[in-house]
Amino acid sequence: MSKNPTPLERVREYERERAIHMSADERPLFHLTPLVGWMNDPNGFCWYKGQYHLFYQYHPFSRAWGPMHWGHAVSHDLLHWTYEPCALAPDTAADAGGCFSGSAVELPDGRLMLVYTGVQPAGTFRRETQAQCIAIGDGKDFEKSLLNPVIRHAHLPEDYSAFDFRDPKVWRAQDGTFRMVVGNRHAERQGSILLLSSPDGFTWHFVGEIDSSNSEYGRMWECPDFFPLDGKQVLIVSPQEMHAREEFHAGFGTVAIVGQFDEGECQFVRETVQPVDFGLNFYAPQTMLAPDGRRIMIGWMDNWETCKEAPRRHPWYAQMSAPREVFIENGRLMQRPVREFELLWQDTVRHDRVTVSEETGLPGVQGRLMDMTVTLLPEGSSCRRFTLHVAKDAHHYIQIRCDLARSELVFDRSLGGSHRDIVHTRHARAEVKDGKLTLRLLMDKESVELFINGGERVITAIIPTPLSADGITFAADAPVTMSVEAHHLG
Ligand code: FRU
Repeated sequence: MSKNPTPLERVREYERERAIHMSADERPLFHLTPLVGWMNDPNGFCWYKGQYHLFYQYHPFSRAWGPMHWGHAVSHDLLHWTYEPCALAPDTAADAGGCFSGSAVELPDGRLMLVYTGVQPAGTFRRETQAQCIAIGDGKDFEKSLLNPVIRHAHLPEDYSAFDFRDPKVWRAQDGTFRMVVGNRHAERQGSILLLSSPDGFTWHFVGEIDSSNSEYGRMWECPDFFPLDGKQVLIVSPQEMHAREEFHAGFGTVAIVGQFDEGECQFVRETVQPVDFGLNFYAPQTMLAPDGRRIMIGWMDNWETCKEAPRRHPWYAQMSAPREVFIENGRLMQRPVREFELLWQDTVRHDRVTVSEETGLPGVQGRLMDMTVTLLPEGSSCRRFTLHVAKDAHHYIQIRCDLARSELVFDRSLGGSHRDIVHTRHARAEVKDGKLTLRLLMDKESVELFINGGERVITAIIPTPLSADGITFAADAPVTMSVEAHHLG
């Protein structure tokens, strides 16, 4: 290291020292965790020079949120990640208060541009402000623009906030010019998503407002994403302080608005509004377009309420969700684990059309590293209630209860080993359709991601259950037929 190391050089040195003491066995199998310290939102998720890049909100020096850096990892298959050195540290006047969330886009000359929110610290007479910054590099080292912040509050019409102005998501339009959506908090309309345009990625101008909360869906809208998908246009936002309504729970949520977009008029017309994830731990997702045309989404597998109380058992804290392919069916945003999961399948066990009533396990169906699909076939049965237990031992279990009469599923981790009085249950609609209900579970040690009916609804949860609790049982209040396909993962 040089005699007068920069803040980024110091972080990179710290990472090298700490990496020696970190064991891959103590990490999840396929979920990305921070190299060391704290992680929140996924950032700069992209395909660049032959591999996937995923950056993340990062505080290397503790397992709590702190001055935000960007961590960095790369992968060929979205499941095996290799750490790269820290990409950004808060070390300039434009971002001294933190390098907040943002995205990445390839420039015409082949360099990668990171676009992020620079936080300018509060002064004696001034509140902390937020503006958009850029840094350009080769996929490993990035140089911040001397013109940062390149998008300031002054770029916006009146009544938009200088304090809640963050999380730019950029992409290249078909004509080669650049677009960005960014979150803001309008004085009246609250959470609002703004569209900006740029000929080259460096100079930007305000185009218009895409949509806003109007206090219906929370206060500030964080981490927007905006993309065409299967003939529709999708806006994803993560609102703060939502009131419970329709299918949404209170607090920090994720919202997908599916509609149509007329870019000429900058008019986005809503068709449907739905939660992205119904679980306990999912926030601030970001998508990217894979080279084969798939739209892939990863979220922060945590939540600002629950992270406060969650145990810190490892030298790192928090994880990303599994990578999910998103698609539209019947006007709704659907999700399925990316097909690369098949690369992890080992020892597949199948039980075809077995009858279950009393609580029972099945040979070979046990473990905490698993991709398991349960297909319930209740036709001709008087079964109303089907219960699945995972991560089970004599003292613990995670319960998934399906009320077939009410088409309701309850995910319940109350007995999963938590000793905190926090939310442990979530509800989601789960209908029997064409005679069946499918539940696909991805289990990776300390998490469960449940895809209901082909990803119509998804429930994501971190579980604090000891890893020795690896039982799986099935029960129904009347004999019912089901099939189980369980792939152990390795
Ligand atoms: C969302 C968020 C973003 C912000 C970042 C800061 O989780 O609050 O709005 O950029 O986290 O770490």
